[in-house]
Amino acid sequence: MEHTLALSHGTLSWDDYGSHRAAITLVLLHGFPHDRSLWAAQVATAAEAFPDTRLLVPDLPGFGRSSPLPSASMDAYADVLEPMLDTAGVERAVIGGLSMGGYIAFAFWRRHAARVRALLLMDTKAPADTDAAREKRLQLIATIQGHGVGAVVADMLPAQLGQTTRRDNPALVERVEVMLRRAPASGVTAAAQALMDRIDSTPTLGTITVPTLVIVGDEDTTTPISDAIAMSAGIPGSRLVTIPGAGHLAPLEQPTIVNAAIAEFLDVAVR
Ligand code: MLT
Repeated sequence: MEHTLALSHGTLSWDDYGSHRAAITLVLLHGFPHDRSLWAAQVATAAEAFPDTRLLVPDLPGFGRSSPLPSASMDAYADVLEPMLDTAGVERAVIGGLSMGGYIAFAFWRRHAARVRALLLMDTKAPADTDAAREKRLQLIATIQGHGVGAVVADMLPAQLGQTTRRDNPALVERVEVMLRRAPASGVTAAAQALMDRIDSTPTLGTITVPTLVIVGDEDTTTPISDAIAMSAGIPGSRLVTIPGAGHLAPLEQPTIVNAAIAEFLDVAVR
């Protein structure tokens, strides 16, 4: 069921699946430049894949049906999640994020640790942007401002999906392309600026005291396995699962394997 909350900057929109009495609430944060449909494969099978679990799946500000923030940052994205949890009546949730969603999960941990029951970090990494990455973000912003989001999609797509998906699953490639194309230009440019300004989360890793699962596609070239290994090594007691045949969008590319890994983590480490 969709919920919309009026905040001082505009509205936040999310889907709420499962019982309010479920033992666990799992928040799923999409990456850049996605929307809540990134989690279609988790939502579609939630009742069987994640029993006794409630899912909260927002559009981050500036994406999907959520209003843009006046000044986007990882902290500001993280802060809108607190009123969502309050409205949902959830004290502590498992915070799951993919790529930019993972950077936001780190910010949420730094700012609202008491609301975090566990972390699920998917196809993401801890360090800040390098100078070269910042340069690419500036070029992306300039291209979008001049020609619209459509002008950057062809370049972005190969970095989103692994070679297996690109070879064997044209329907999924098309769905992801449609998702990228409908991202609002203002939301994408604001997020690109926020991404290049984000702080290094490496010092945060050692502060994490909740159960943490790291998931990475073995064909992810955007946040590769080496990043996931370094991240997991820095988080005390965390577990790392590598997903065969998946790129940067592992939960969408190999949902059966990813869902099983999440379900086992929720059962063994969280419940
Ligand atoms: C994402 O999927 O969120 C992006 O790849 C993050 C980034 O560009 O750093």
